[in-house]
Amino acid sequence: MARGSREFIIRGVTYLAGEVGIRQFLDVGTGLPTASNTHEVAQRVAPDSRIVYVDNDPLVLTHARALLTSTPEGATDYIDADLRDPDAILREAAPTLDLNKPVALMLMGILGHVKSDDEVRSIIGRLMDALPSGSYLAQSDGTNTSPEMVAAQDQYNEGAPLPYCVRSPERIASFYEGLEMIPPGVVRVTDWRPEIGPHEIKHAECFGGVGRKP
Ligand SMILES: C[S@@+](CC[C@H](N)C(=O)[O-])C[C@H]1O[C@@H](n2cnc3c(N)ncnc32)[C@H](O)[C@@H]1O
Repeated sequence: MARGSREFIIRGVTYLAGEVGIRQFLDVGTGLPTASNTHEVAQRVAPDSRIVYVDNDPLVLTHARALLTSTPEGATDYIDADLRDPDAILREAAPTLDLNKPVALMLMGILGHVKSDDEVRSIIGRLMDALPSGSYLAQSDGTNTSPEMVAAQDQYNEGAPLPYCVRSPERIASFYEGLEMIPPGVVRVTDWRPEIGPHEIKHAECFGGVGRKP
């Protein structure tokens, strides 16, 4: 799942920076720095890309320096903030991102941490409302698409300080209401535009997609 969803991030960011021409990314729920972080992928395609990372985990904050290695033409910043406080995210992102120009909002593997569908819709709505037409939402999350995945997640959640809710693909797709889905829509991440590459992982219990604000 980790590798399949990372490959989806790489293909999604490559698509947005390349084919679409997006130059600004707001990556909420960044996670620990790893291989092919959002700014590395985007700036490989377009060195002038500007990326703001957001997470509320102190451990991610400790390692954030590894995310602040921008090209000279572009910019990266890290904000220690909570997804549930979109106003703070937008306020603190504003010095780095021009919120009058299209932004790709990335919510990768984070919405499962918000149990209520209504709250997810409200958070996405508040963030997307603040972004102009031509902005994008790119998202992925673990799904309840196999009994093994559901059992593993239940077991994890018993002792987890931060439980994660695996949803059905249909529930995830409903979060894109009001956005134009980019083909192939909300699908298993391993089936999303494999031709862009990389595409080593062929199956993961994780669905995602990319939608455009009209
Ligand atoms: C499963 S990881 C995903 C990391 C990365 N986006 C990826 O897809 O590889 C989820 C991340 O979301 C962060 N997170 C969870 N709830 C959050 C919240 N309410 N506000 C900000 N970050 C949150 C966690 O700290 C964690 O780093």
